Amino acid sequence: MEKSLIIIKPSGLQRGLAGNVIERFQRKGLQINGIKMMQLDEAILRSHYAHLTDRPFFPLILKSMMASPVIVMVLSGEDAISVIRDMTGATNGRKAAPGTIRGDFSMSGQENIIHASDSAESAVAEIARFFKPDEIFDYKPAHIEYLYADDEITE
Ligand code: PPS
Repeated sequence: MEKSLIIIKPSGLQRGLAGNVIERFQRKGLQINGIKMMQLDEAILRSHYAHLTDRPFFPLILKSMMASPVIVMVLSGEDAISVIRDMTGATNGRKAAPGTIRGDFSMSGQENIIHASDSAESAVAEIARFFKPDEIFDYKPAHIEYLYADDEITE
């Protein structure tokens, strides 16, 4: 099973969308392995968005992501990273497809409700950035045989 890191951004929390976002992922069949609220600071954001620090919009990322607490989650499932990215939609909510989280709830490239890991490498780094090992719980989903065929399940 693959794990991914999701941040419900201040735009998602403040607009009362956290429950809907979590419900979408749970109904899809993704498992919650970790979940908590955090107030992000500049240091963790400079690390998380290291590839964007010299972009002109980086100050706006800092302002937006520190505007209120966020909810961070570790979700797992087979091919969880790509499944979650598809459910998230394109970066800019105005261009994201209807039916995706951003397509349904966002009109913005920054106020776009959630962040989701974009690759297996990023997911490992991002999970370690936001969660201590003892904050992540591995457990067998009670209904796993109704989520996957036997030959679809990996360790
Ligand atoms: S990029 O531009 O190709 O590197 O875009 P991407 O990797 O999808 O993610 C960029 C993150 O920066 C946030 N952001 C913006 N992106 C593009 N344009 C503007 N103006 C902008 N402002 C903020 C965007 O929300 C992405 O955040 P995450 O949390 O990764 O989704």
